[in-house]
Amino acid sequence: MQTVSTRAGLAKAVAGLKIGGKTLALVPTMGALHDGHMTLVRQARAHADHVVVSIFVNPMQFGANEDLDAYPRQMDADARQLRTAGVDLLWAPTVAEMYPDGFATTVSVAGLDRVLCGMHRPGHFDGVATVVLKLFNQVRPDVALFGEKDWQQLTIIRRMARDLDLAQPHVDRIVGVSTVREADGLAMSSRNRYLSADQRAQAAALNRAMRLCVGAVLAGEAIGMALDRLRRAVLAAGFDRIDYADLRAADTLDDLAQWHGGAARLLVAAHIGRTRLIDNMAIDPAMAIMPQTENA
Ligand code: PAF
Repeated sequence: MQTVSTRAGLAKAVAGLKIGGKTLALVPTMGALHDGHMTLVRQARAHADHVVVSIFVNPMQFGANEDLDAYPRQMDADARQLRTAGVDLLWAPTVAEMYPDGFATTVSVAGLDRVLCGMHRPGHFDGVATVVLKLFNQVRPDVALFGEKDWQQLTIIRRMARDLDLAQPHVDRIVGVSTVREADGLAMSSRNRYLSADQRAQAAALNRAMRLCVGAVLAGEAIGMALDRLRRAVLAAGFDRIDYADLRAADTLDDLAQWHGGAARLLVAAHIGRTRLIDNMAIDPAMAIMPQTENA
């Protein structure tokens, strides 16, 4: 695996990988890799001849009071994992390389960035959209892969790609990969390592409450009631506060007061101690666990 940290080095390495018309898959990350990331990497190998992974803790997507400085950084361990997984190229720019002096442009996907996490993390999705567009332009991949755990992020990136006519990767080639979960259902996240042992045990309640809520909606319960029960269960389990627990249209993120069978997503963000966890689930009859089968 080659590792590059300058744009000139990247351009040369990418040109080398593309020789003979070979295709590239890009997996953008902020490092602190876990099995969720490695699943993206494994799937990327099925989509293209070569895999490029970027590791960049993007200051532009962190708010003033967020965890930019504390965000876990473990470049050597990450590089070892990627090498073992057969990644061809690691793109690991510095902040100065990504945002040279005088950098002044922001990409904003209006509307989609004002709801859910956007309401609680103003400017976050501008930072995400800007850096992802830069990564697309720098690497020019044929396909890019993102985790469905960050459903709003994935929706925003797809909309940006459609709105800005990104031909490569094309909107159809932005692949969402199912959330990878721990055995008790907690969605894998680099931020899970902030949890104490007690908080980690309590955190599993989020997934249980979400599955119950999905089951209740599928069984015909009014969405408001199902969401109220979810909020009560999550707070009773030890979470300190809930930023949102909403049922939304999967692509437009419109709030749904009722579910009529279309593609929808239950999305939740909740705080446990100083850690903010997010998760989402499709309202999908195949995934339903009916309320009476659970005793959580
Ligand atoms: O999901 C992430 O890790 C980040 O938001 C991303 C897409 C790499 C952009 O910094």
